[in-house]
Amino acid sequence: MTKPIKRIAVCTGGGDAPGLNAVIQSVMIAADNLGWQCYGIRDGFNGIMFPERYPDGGVYRLTRAKVRGIGNLGGTILGSTNKGNPLHFPVNMPDGSVREIDRSDELLTYFATHEIDALVSIGGDGSLTIADALHRKGLRVIGVPKTIDNDLDKTLTTFGFDTAVGFATECIDRLHSTAESHQRVMVVEVMGRYAGWIALHAGIAGNAHAILIPEIGFDIDKVAAKIREREADGHLYSIVVVAEGAQARDGHRELVAPAEVGHAERLGGIGGIIAQALSQSTGKDTRVVVLGHLLRGGSPTSFDRLAALRFGAAAVRGLDAGKTGVMVSLGVDGVDYVSLEEVAGHIRNVPIGCDTLQTGRDLGISFGD
Ligand code: F6P
Repeated sequence: MTKPIKRIAVCTGGGDAPGLNAVIQSVMIAADNLGWQCYGIRDGFNGIMFPERYPDGGVYRLTRAKVRGIGNLGGTILGSTNKGNPLHFPVNMPDGSVREIDRSDELLTYFATHEIDALVSIGGDGSLTIADALHRKGLRVIGVPKTIDNDLDKTLTTFGFDTAVGFATECIDRLHSTAESHQRVMVVEVMGRYAGWIALHAGIAGNAHAILIPEIGFDIDKVAAKIREREADGHLYSIVVVAEGAQARDGHRELVAPAEVGHAERLGGIGGIIAQALSQSTGKDTRVVVLGHLLRGGSPTSFDRLAALRFGAAAVRGLDAGKTGVMVSLGVDGVDYVSLEEVAGHIRNVPIGCDTLQTGRDLGISFGD
């Protein structure tokens, strides 16, 4: 028989996303209602691995008072990190090189020391892969799907995405008037890693004229042709939305920084390249706007807030029902649970045949192909 749960921990890993605090609030209150204690781990797993870095010891008791009023706040009261993955932990070697080591066994001992019976790990594919590894080693774990990128498999959506798309759409809306006043081409670069969800959804909702996503290799001449076609029709401005991971047909991707031990490559810069190329080929005045981390900030939309609250409560219900090694997911019939194994390490891209993409094509939007 499995040991009854008395104490759980919650942590937030990877890039922050609006709604994290609502999940933390929901987990804490639902756990408290079951008579469980709930602890927060600071900065992903850093709080439990490096207590000496934190005045409060890095792992602290969450109470109703501590989570009151946080559900509408962006960011995470626990802090987050996308560095120092315990499965691939960077270690400086005496010869000056850096090596990755697996510290998951050690991490498990810290959970035991804190007498934590189960973990709710809120994160994207990186954090959920770690959660899956910890589950395989015997820790009771439930994952909660977070990311503005919406690139997690086996869930209809992740929380954070709706907020990011809403903000990007508002920015695109605002760019229409200035682009039209100055008869310019405005290129808007949005985040999303290797998936084009944010660009696709915000681009269509914001009436962009071209949308470039990683799933469709683009030909810049096709985008320029779209701009010329609009000119010929008397529309002297254009809006081009570009996902940070968009790539030309030759597969080249722009990076801000290459991958290094303990940190994934950082995408970005494609907006500027596209703007320059379009300026050269169309002769039009062109500007670039990089929305970047603005997409991660702000208060979660009601959709994200509700999803986050549902996910948090469902994570606790799942643990109470004896589930482990699963991620809470949003299905057509409501919240469900899918195995972490099915989610870890997979990226959900925009399906080329999806109706949203087809809608864009039906509306005459260029995808650069
Ligand atoms: O995964 C969320 C995300 O915002 C991506 O869209 C982006 O590529 C990445 O994180 C940026 O991460 P960082 O916070 O390291 O700049």
